[in-house]
Amino acid sequence: MGSTFIIAVVQRKGGVGKTTVAVNVAGELVRLGHSVTLIDADPQKSAFAWANPRRLRFPVRHHAYSSARITAWIKAIYTSGTDVTIIDTPGDLGSVSRTAIELADMIIMPCGPSSLDINSAKQTLDKIDELSRWPGAAMPRIVIVPTRVDAQTLEGQLIAQELAELGHDVGPVLSYDTNFVRAFAEGLTVTDFAPGSAAEHEVRDVVSFMLTPAQAQPAM
Ligand SMILES: Nc1ncnc2c1ncn2[C@@H]1O[C@H](COP(=O)(O)OP(=O)(O)OP(=O)(O)O)[C@@H](O)[C@H]1O
Ligand SMILES: [Mg+2]
Repeated sequence: MGSTFIIAVVQRKGGVGKTTVAVNVAGELVRLGHSVTLIDADPQKSAFAWANPRRLRFPVRHHAYSSARITAWIKAIYTSGTDVTIIDTPGDLGSVSRTAIELADMIIMPCGPSSLDINSAKQTLDKIDELSRWPGAAMPRIVIVPTRVDAQTLEGQLIAQELAELGHDVGPVLSYDTNFVRAFAEGLTVTDFAPGSAAEHEVRDVVSFMLTPAQAQPAM
């Protein structure tokens, strides 16, 4: 099998920005010169829809996960043929998310600024912890990315601090910014849709954080 660095984007809560993070991180990695495949493992096919206008600079493949075809699904990921394979998962912790967690070299967990999001983040971390305790499994690096952050609100100001208490690396925030919504509508990454924007700079900061060595000592 080919070797590819696998990044799983997971979070139990829906609508937190998993697909937005997956597409824009992929775009930034491509801009930096890496080859990237984005695997859309969500039956909703949001990433696949994003790619539909064929304007993204990397391939997006929809691989439906079926328990009868797990080996084929895993093989498709390992043989993507690119340096990096990003898996965008559904908003639950079902079989597809669990398998993606088990395969991942790195996990990105987007988290919005509300107590509901933070509770879901804790549940997601518990699941990652449980899966990484299996014999032969290793704990992947986890990067928590605060998303949809409005710095004008108290919740927005406190989110990074609250997430830091979870004992994993907390990356730079992605602010609430309509450029992310509009980029999706145009089938582009924010880098291509709004070059020079704050949104683009935030995505660059998140990726540069991902590419630097881990800071936090996992608490688990
Ligand atoms: N930083 C942001 N600022 C503003 N809107 C955002 C931001 N991130 C995501 N959104 C918007 O929020 C909605 C949900 O985002 P997204 O689809 O990325 O979440 P998701 O976690 O993948 O959802 P699902 O669990 O349904 O797959 C979309 O309309 C998206 O455009
Ligand atoms: Mg999604």
